[in-house]
Amino acid sequence: MAVPCVRLALLLCLMIPATVASPRSRSLRKSPAHASASRPTAFFEVDRPPRARGSSGRRCSTLLLSASFGSTFDKPPATAAYSPPSCLVKAGGRASAISLAVLEWRAACRGPQLDRIFGVWLAGAELLRGSTAAPPPNGIVWSVSKDVTRYASLLAAAGNSTFAVYLGNHVNATLTGVYHANVTLHLYLRRTPTTKPTPATAPADLIVPMSRALPLNGGLWFPIQSAADVASKSVALPSNTYRAVLELYFSSHQDDELWYKNQPGYQNGPFREVTARVDGVLAGSVCPFPVIYPGGIYPLLWRPIAPIGSFNLPTYDIELTPFLGKLLDGKAHEFAFAVTNAMDVWYIDANLHLWLDPRGTATTAGLVSYAAPPTNTTSSKSADPVDTHYHATADRLVSATGWVKSSYGNITTNATRTFALDYLLTFETLDLTILADTGVVATDGAGGVLYSAQTHGNFPLGWVYQQNSLTVTHGLEETTVAAGRWSSAPPYRSLRTTQSSLVEDEEGGGKSWGVRQTYRYNATDGCYFRNVTSSNYSVVSDHSNELCVKGAASAGVGTVTAALPAVNLP
Ligand SMILES: *[C@@H]1O[C@H](CO)[C@@H](O)[C@H](O)[C@H]1NC(C)=O
Ligand SMILES: *[C@@H]1O[C@H](CO)[C@@H](O)[C@H](O)[C@H]1NC(C)=O
Ligand SMILES: *[C@@H]1O[C@H](CO)[C@@H](O)[C@H](O)[C@H]1NC(C)=O
Ligand SMILES: *[C@@H]1O[C@H](CO)[C@@H](O)[C@H](O)[C@H]1NC(C)=O
Ligand SMILES: *[C@@H]1O[C@H](CO)[C@@H](O)[C@H](O)[C@H]1NC(C)=O
Ligand SMILES: *[C@@H]1O[C@H](CO)[C@@H](O)[C@H](O)[C@H]1NC(C)=O
Ligand SMILES: *[C@@H]1O[C@H](CO)[C@@H](O)[C@H](O)[C@H]1NC(C)=O
Ligand SMILES: *[C@@H]1O[C@H](CO)[C@@H](O)[C@H](O)[C@H]1NC(C)=O
Ligand SMILES: *[C@@H]1O[C@H](CO)[C@@H](O)[C@H](O)[C@H]1NC(C)=O
Repeated sequence: MAVPCVRLALLLCLMIPATVASPRSRSLRKSPAHASASRPTAFFEVDRPPRARGSSGRRCSTLLLSASFGSTFDKPPATAAYSPPSCLVKAGGRASAISLAVLEWRAACRGPQLDRIFGVWLAGAELLRGSTAAPPPNGIVWSVSKDVTRYASLLAAAGNSTFAVYLGNHVNATLTGVYHANVTLHLYLRRTPTTKPTPATAPADLIVPMSRALPLNGGLWFPIQSAADVASKSVALPSNTYRAVLELYFSSHQDDELWYKNQPGYQNGPFREVTARVDGVLAGSVCPFPVIYPGGIYPLLWRPIAPIGSFNLPTYDIELTPFLGKLLDGKAHEFAFAVTNAMDVWYIDANLHLWLDPRGTATTAGLVSYAAPPTNTTSSKSADPVDTHYHATADRLVSATGWVKSSYGNITTNATRTFALDYLLTFETLDLTILADTGVVATDGAGGVLYSAQTHGNFPLGWVYQQNSLTVTHGLEETTVAAGRWSSAPPYRSLRTTQSSLVEDEEGGGKSWGVRQTYRYNATDGCYFRNVTSSNYSVVSDHSNELCVKGAASAGVGTVTAALPAVNLP
């Protein structure tokens, strides 16, 4: 649960003199007067529409759950029985019949309410995590569509499983908003289902949830309340596993909602790292993309265009294949999750994606090399007492190489993750950059590449505080190059999106605000571009297309990142 007012008061105390801070923080507690008092506003996160790969035949849609979330905090999740939709059963019921699966979350809320976190699980495996918007009194509607094709084996699993949604909401006399949500599964089926999916890169054969089991009060995620807290689950892997990927879901709340802004030496500083350990050995470490919730930093900044990743939180894949050597003995092994420097509270769970040798024979594996030096963190404070600069850095490498012998041969996998964080806080500005690189290369005995993916990520976040205005600039840039005989991913894909949001004091005490966002997805298999600008609650310009422009646009991206929004606020 995000509690924006409390967070903002803290931020303002840090950033501006108390005389300015108190009227500002007080005025934030009220939602602004609204132009059209009765019609709900449609909020949205800029994203590209999910697209079917290859030829897709039939499409069918199934309403999985319809529920209302009033006073649901720490209550059992809403649940429904799930069995594979009849169209999938008619198509043979195999996971490989699914060419695209999209989970659509559609929600509405009337009455003032805070932004709340929610999670969606099938058979204990998390499928979607998002924040709600922070509704103004006249109400909102929003929807999210997420590609959930990678969960095909769960969606096709015969028999009944439980579909669960937890959204921890509080309703009282001032915060009256009840969230209503419908969750629908759209399946696009192949006309001719493949009987032999591509090894290692088709959706996993088995997904093992690492979450808390129903029945319970609260979400299925594990709460992590401090740096010493560890959540763990013991799991025995099938002995014919030849690839394993751990997908992490997490979100930070309350004291750690805005971890990325913390001045060094205060609230554990601005560095957080989510770690996954297998039998006590560090297998992966992730420096999170700093998701801002729609009520975060300053709620008006995100109306109606939600912050990047807030309606559909990013997840992180950790390649565990190099570690299979210790995991194929049929015994249970401990998978543990923690957050370096955590404060109360992080919600974490994971899905273990496993690929199984179709011949059914036991695989064998061994670790070849492993390196995980301690995180290098630094922090310093400039001597200037008038305008103190706080600087902090952190960087980390985790790399492992291992072989797995299966009926596909003896395959060697190298998995490497690195990140570097750079933080600079001054009296009026924040400048944070996280660089995150991940690489996976699987080669056969002759050194031929079976599949490889190298991803370079850059997550800039900054703000500028001036006398009467606050500008927040937030970006996500991610480029992936993929290759190999088994690779089914586009050889090149790149996403660059930048959001610039501004809130200003008006003469006479009102507030004006505006958002400008550009979104560029450029890939071998297609492109998507959108440029949208809003002023107060209205979208004032919105252009999108699916044209691939060779080379042309990349030069402009840096300028957009650096510029203040060109929103014309009167
Ligand atoms: C959910 O579905 C019901 C039935 O179709 C509909 O009446 C309701 O408006 C929907 N709610 C949302 C939030 O879309
Ligand atoms: C699954 O659940 C449905 C509805 O609850 C029920 O009709 C059906 O018989 C169940 N199927 C199995 C295999 O348990
Ligand atoms: C409702 O809850 C909010 C947030 O917890 C609190 O600030 C507010 O005072 C509450 N209102 C009433 C009338 O209890
Ligand atoms: C730690 O990081 C700082 C800042 O990037 C760098 O100057 C220093 O050389 C690093 N130390 C090690 C041991 O890598
Ligand atoms: C697989 O290949 C690795 C590296 O080439 C080698 O060390 C290992 O012994 C091989 N495994 C088997 C079962 O042949
Ligand atoms: C694994 O990949 C990383 C990054 O590409 C590289 O630096 C490292 O040397 C590789 N390790 C092995 C054992 O090949
Ligand atoms: C935005 O809303 C404020 C009141 O909060 C108003 O004074 C201002 O004129 C509005 N701006 C636009 C462009 O409508
Ligand atoms: C985005 O739209 C705005 C407003 O129409 C325009 O000024 C700006 O140049 C556009 N940016 C790009 C990159 O197309
Ligand atoms: C888009 O991707 C292609 C490769 O698929 C590349 O040649 C081109 O330069 C890219 N364009 C931009 C704007 O990044």
